Amino acid sequence: DPNSGLHQSSQLENRPIQLIELKAQGRFGSVWKAQFKSEEVAVKIFPIQDRQSWMTEKQIFSLPSTDHPNILQYIGAEKRDDNLTTEFWLITAYHENGSLCDYLKANTITWSELCKIAESMCRGLAHLHESTATKSTIAHRDFKSKNVLLKRDLTACIADFGLALTFESGKSCGDVHGQVGTRRYMAPEVLEGAINFNCDSFLRIDMYACGLILWELVSRCNFQVGSIPEYQLPFEEEVGSHPTLEDMQENVVQKKVRPVIQPHWRKHSGLNVLCDTMEECWDHDPEARLSASCVVERIIVQNRYLQP
Ligand code: ADE
Repeated sequence: DPNSGLHQSSQLENRPIQLIELKAQGRFGSVWKAQFKSEEVAVKIFPIQDRQSWMTEKQIFSLPSTDHPNILQYIGAEKRDDNLTTEFWLITAYHENGSLCDYLKANTITWSELCKIAESMCRGLAHLHESTATKSTIAHRDFKSKNVLLKRDLTACIADFGLALTFESGKSCGDVHGQVGTRRYMAPEVLEGAINFNCDSFLRIDMYACGLILWELVSRCNFQVGSIPEYQLPFEEEVGSHPTLEDMQENVVQKKVRPVIQPHWRKHSGLNVLCDTMEECWDHDPEARLSASCVVERIIVQNRYLQP
């Protein structure tokens, strides 16, 4: 590309960043704890074949509307070239608690922590989904507990926009591949390979995954006396750690299996409302699912009036 030099004009120099510790290895590259001047930052390194994912993430983070307390804070994006390899870096805030998935593996949570995490996570999702005069709707398309990070105060922020789509009002999204994301969190209509998704369909697909994450939170809540079971991913009991597409189709589409809601959760008035909420998020019928802003309202009300 003879013009590639021009495209770089906004970022000629790489920032002085020292990689400190490898924190996670994902489908798209690796995440490092790093130091930038006196600041701790996170660096996600994409290999050259995942350039598109880096581009998408960079574009989403560059929108003024993604500056929000419940969306991971963006610092910058860089192309790193040495003589041998090219890497694409994405630099963001670093959160010592890591992902919600990691946190739930290592910790149980109280009812009030659960409410705080769930509310802040859904506020982030509601903000992404919202469309206003100055903001287009954003569908995440890979919403899962690994892509929700926990800040020091246990409020959540949403990360990983490598598959995200923006929708300008009135426009259709054009030709995009529908069956993307993580199999375990795929909604039934995605598993079925239904085509012609429009903006609302993508938001409903995110909401299905949101229901599964609410279940993960409740499964590690220590409101219950006695021992709390080890953390399990959604459907881990049913399909194990590495489900195939066929495993997921058989369970989620044909048998309409959903994660088990334990009967004793329903005895707690606040949790009972949250159990109804997750069921309305993972409904087989996409049109029956709650919106993110509606889930935020439910959580606020349940937290205000229905203490354990
Ligand atoms: N894992 C993935 N992204 C991270 C971040 N920004 N901070 C901490 N852990 C992470």
